[in-house]
Amino acid sequence: METPLELPLELIQVLRSARSVAALTGAGISAESGIPTFREAQTGLWSRYRPEELATPAAFEKNPRLVWEWYAWRREIVSRALPNPGHLALAEMEEHLPQFTLITQNVDGLHQRAGSGKKAALIELHGNIQRTKCYEENRVVERWQETPDPPPRCPHCGGPLRPDVVWFGEALPWDALEAAQAAAANCEVFFSIGTSALVEPAASLPLIARRSGACVVEINPQSTPLTRLATYFLPHPAGVVLPALISRVWGGVD
Ligand code: OAD
Repeated sequence: METPLELPLELIQVLRSARSVAALTGAGISAESGIPTFREAQTGLWSRYRPEELATPAAFEKNPRLVWEWYAWRREIVSRALPNPGHLALAEMEEHLPQFTLITQNVDGLHQRAGSGKKAALIELHGNIQRTKCYEENRVVERWQETPDPPPRCPHCGGPLRPDVVWFGEALPWDALEAAQAAAANCEVFFSIGTSALVEPAASLPLIARRSGACVVEINPQSTPLTRLATYFLPHPAGVVLPALISRVWGGVD
């Protein structure tokens, strides 16, 4: 028989009365949908590359075809994946709270597909892999002509097209970052879910929340640099702990 998850009673009570909650997600929340996390080894054809060697402007300038094809492969994995119970639980959370902000470092769009962002804010800090933009002009492009020699070209200026994601060494969209920092500074509870809490500036968001007096809850099977600063550390997969938490807090169980 499965043992029920131990969830801190105080956290349940805090969430029941909370008006403002923010959550930061990372690759770990999509791991249960079959999307490899950033720091896991890549498989097959791409196993000899590290993401840090492909997700950079320098890599694109050196070999745009290689980078475009790597993203085409990742886009394929993402299109086949489905939101998992962790994504669905976060979509449900926004229904229960007067104010909820979901901040994600993921580019896979699975939060939207789970229904997040309808009633509450959804901030994509690192862009979205399904969107394409011009490398020269930075404008989003919806349609283009495929070519035998990728990447395809921008229909406006002829520049090479690239995915609309933030690469290593690039700045985050400032409006998204500013909104995320404001949400962290103004919430009562801040969740850090499935992120290694290593990559700035997202890694600072839970610290901003903590400094502003929020209760910080970390959900990750492994500990991270954030763990010792978190109010609660729930060392379980997000797809297990989030649905359990929702049903305890809002499911009328007790
Ligand atoms: P990482 O791959 O660094 O970390 C994923 C985290 O998820 C790890 O701490 C795992 O322990 C945890 N994890 C794995 N399975 C989990 C599960 N089922 N439930 C909960 N947690 C689980 O991914 P990120 O922290 O998202 O940036 O990486 C942050 C950024 O670094 C990425 O957005 C990307 C990368 O460089 C850019 O592309 C700019």
